[in-house]
Amino acid sequence: MDEHTDGLADARAESIIEVEHLTKRFGAKLVLDDVSLVIEKGKTTVVIGPSGCGKTVLIKHFIVLQRPSEGQVRFEGRRIDDLSERELARVRTRFGYLFQEGALFDSMTVAENIMFPIRQHYRVKSSRELEDVVKAKLAMVGLDGFQNYYPARLSGGQRKRVALARAIALNPEVILYDEPTTGLDPIRSDIISELILKLERELGITTVVVTHDMKSAYKVADRIIMLHNGKVIADGNADYIRNHPHPVVQQFINGQVSEDDLAVLRMSGSAGTAQFLPRDFEE
Ligand SMILES: Nc1ncnc2c1ncn2[C@@H]1O[C@H](COP(=O)(O)OP(=O)(O)O)[C@@H](O)[C@H]1O
Ligand SMILES: [Mg+2]
Repeated sequence: MDEHTDGLADARAESIIEVEHLTKRFGAKLVLDDVSLVIEKGKTTVVIGPSGCGKTVLIKHFIVLQRPSEGQVRFEGRRIDDLSERELARVRTRFGYLFQEGALFDSMTVAENIMFPIRQHYRVKSSRELEDVVKAKLAMVGLDGFQNYYPARLSGGQRKRVALARAIALNPEVILYDEPTTGLDPIRSDIISELILKLERELGITTVVVTHDMKSAYKVADRIIMLHNGKVIADGNADYIRNHPHPVVQQFINGQVSEDDLAVLRMSGSAGTAQFLPRDFEE
């Protein structure tokens, strides 16, 4: 066992996703540096770390929206990082995901948004059956009755909840959330955290949450993994992370600005240096 874990990834827990010696580079930039970890079935794993440290890139590897530069990804014991897009499409139906760019379709009603993945993957049953599915999914997120609304009429928190209903449309075994509470006020954030817990409890879903929000992390996590400079620097339950001796972990969880961040702020005198990066999908 390595010194950074508390033994939580115990042998009894069944793994569902395994990442082994995963390295990811974009050109010369090293984003993930030989990361190995296991996501346990039925548990909630939270990934934290400073902005740009590779959290989104890591979880995109779980469904192979990114391919490793080196290393492997396995789902239910089967290697998936080398599958074709066609084979991956089938694997991905086992996942629900809520990525930052995965907004609702504005031109579709709430009901149509939720039906969309079902229609994409299955020959559609009767519209009555579809309506029942939509109703059940919306009830899960407390929004039954909003079927005919367009996203523009919903608040930010409600839109997140509809996106959540859509993410569970195909009854996934694993759900990946990328910064689900970003942009929400504390009360709405708390509602999302409660929903994450509810879905885990009621549907037995394996959950992975990327977040900046330590309040949400402590609330939902069975286990917290902290990434820094492309490596896992801490991996354990909430108490373990709270009491972790690594100064970078303490700085992060207490929301302190590090000396490195300050140095960057002092350097960037001009506002004209902002850059946009193609951070979504490869290609
Ligand atoms: N498709 C891409 N092409 C080039 N660089 C990328 C791409 N996706 C992410 N990156 C870079 O990888 C690093 C990690 O990004 P990301 O995983 O999005 O960070 P975060 O921890 O904030 O989610 C960043 O420096 C980002 O600019
Ligand atoms: Mg991200």
